[in-house]
Amino acid sequence: MMMSFKTPLLVFTSFLLLLVFYFSPSNKQPFTINTGYFSSNNTSPLFLYQRPQSFSSDSTSLASSSTTNGDNESDLAITSATSSEHTHHREKLTSSEKIEDDLARARNAIQKASRTRNYTSDRAEDFIPRGPVYRNPYAFHQSYIEMERTFKIWTYKEGNLPMVHDGPHSYLYSIEGHFIDAMEDNTNPFAASNMEEAHTFFLPYSVSNMVDVLYERNAGYGPYIRVVADYVRVISEKYHYWNRSGGGDHFMVSCHDWAPLVTSSAPNKLYKNVTRVVCNANSSESFDPKVDVSLPEISLITRTLLIPTQSRKLGPDRPILGFFAGGAHGDIRKILIKQWKDKDSELQVNEYLPKGTDYGALMAKTKFCLCPSGSEVASPRVVEAIHANCVPVLISDHYVLPFSDILDWSQFSIQVPVNKIPEMKTILLAVPDEKYRKLQKGVEQVRRHFTLNRPAKRFDVTHMILHSIWLRRLNFNLPA
Ligand SMILES: *[C@@H]1O[C@H](CO)[C@@H](O)[C@H](O)[C@H]1NC(C)=O
Ligand SMILES: *[C@@H]1O[C@H](CO)[C@@H](O)[C@H](O)[C@H]1NC(C)=O
Ligand SMILES: *[C@@H]1O[C@H](CO)[C@@H](O)[C@H](O)[C@H]1NC(C)=O
Ligand SMILES: *[C@@H]1O[C@H](CO)[C@@H](O)[C@H](O)[C@H]1NC(C)=O
Ligand SMILES: *[C@@H]1O[C@H](CO)[C@@H](O)[C@H](O)[C@H]1NC(C)=O
Ligand SMILES: *[C@@H]1O[C@H](CO)[C@@H](O)[C@H](O)[C@H]1NC(C)=O
Repeated sequence: MMMSFKTPLLVFTSFLLLLVFYFSPSNKQPFTINTGYFSSNNTSPLFLYQRPQSFSSDSTSLASSSTTNGDNESDLAITSATSSEHTHHREKLTSSEKIEDDLARARNAIQKASRTRNYTSDRAEDFIPRGPVYRNPYAFHQSYIEMERTFKIWTYKEGNLPMVHDGPHSYLYSIEGHFIDAMEDNTNPFAASNMEEAHTFFLPYSVSNMVDVLYERNAGYGPYIRVVADYVRVISEKYHYWNRSGGGDHFMVSCHDWAPLVTSSAPNKLYKNVTRVVCNANSSESFDPKVDVSLPEISLITRTLLIPTQSRKLGPDRPILGFFAGGAHGDIRKILIKQWKDKDSELQVNEYLPKGTDYGALMAKTKFCLCPSGSEVASPRVVEAIHANCVPVLISDHYVLPFSDILDWSQFSIQVPVNKIPEMKTILLAVPDEKYRKLQKGVEQVRRHFTLNRPAKRFDVTHMILHSIWLRRLNFNLPA
């Protein structure tokens, strides 16, 4: 598609997902952890995603959940559900009712935290998310606490190496392999001990590894589509969980560019309800932010957990105004390179740097790191910039930013529409020092959410990905 030069700023920003926790101030609304977009002209109200099925937040009405009306306040026993009541009722619940009961309790707690602007936890909290980088820090914090307390994931054992139970651990698609490992690690605190207690189910195949193993010139996507469809066929014949929800409480994870296409092309709309956690989060293609999750792209240096900008000296002295280095693939980069390559000493736009150039050091000396989309929407530069304490400049169309239901990206990045690329230098120079310091402080604050640890740590990238999945699961009910 040709890049449109007519796109006004508002339209551009509207394509960035502005997901919010939406809580009615009067609590008369049904609880909805909402995924809403601002309309493209920014005048119509927030579009609120309503859960397709109504639910009640009180275990007593679970049995009649198919007839309850989520719009009616009396269906929401928000404060009446005490834990002793729950214990009493839980004994009579089937395992799938227990699952829904868990989720209902979590929704209640999140709603309460948002209302009281404080959290409830049965342990000392070592990190309390606060500040403008969070859309609703109270709701997020409680939701995170509830996830740790409740969320259980079953990782299917079916399938063989190398296409299942493994993935890449270095370079562009690293996050895929590391996430699969983290899920299959014996110490994973979110692992369900049996299938009955799982709130969600993980399909641990790797699209990247499939491409490595099955790639054939001119063979198209057919081979990968067959593998992902086959995987579902096997597990859906063997267990009843897939059929129970049409895959709605299942997820897959892949950073490969082709993952959205491969899964959306699987026969019979097999993947329609599945949460797809993918780097190529292009809302103009099959990616649906209500159901799917945007996965940060993290390009690790071989066999390390480090990216090129980590463990750099991060001085305040930033002699370079703006910096980019990379191949001219994709329409946006072509425009950027054509316009700015070798044109300006302060705004340094390069194609590939000469061998031996210290890319990480350059980013650490830069105020604004340009992160244009390439052949797909995501770029590893976003996370690299964050680790270089460099304010990311996002140049993309239809990119749903990672964790944008939790994080307010405008507090730690700048978005420049594609049609404003010619004005890039003016735009960057116009950012006042005070604003820059705030943005940079925001970058520092979110860094923990973009850091990969093995084993995973609280609030790090792995747990933030899980939290995104948890939020989608809170918005989905098993059919009664
Ligand atoms: C604004 O958006 C709404 C909903 O998308 C649409 O109905 C309306 O016509 C738009 N108004 C303008 C001025 O474009
Ligand atoms: C809510 O439910 C109650 C009891 O079922 C009913 O009397 C009332 O009219 C309902 N209110 C609305 C707004 O639907
Ligand atoms: C918030 O909750 C925590 C833990 O329950 C408590 O220690 C703290 O005092 C509360 N803060 C406020 C401002 O209510
Ligand atoms: C799930 O549905 C498929 C297709 O209808 C069917 O072949 C399969 O046997 C079902 N699985 C179970 C466990 O009943
Ligand atoms: C997706 O889930 C809904 C219910 O939640 C179900 O009606 C629908 O059939 C499912 N879609 C597929 C393709 O299974
Ligand atoms: C996003 O999807 C649209 C629609 O298919 C496409 O035109 C555009 O090139 C995609 N963006 C990138 C960066 O690939």
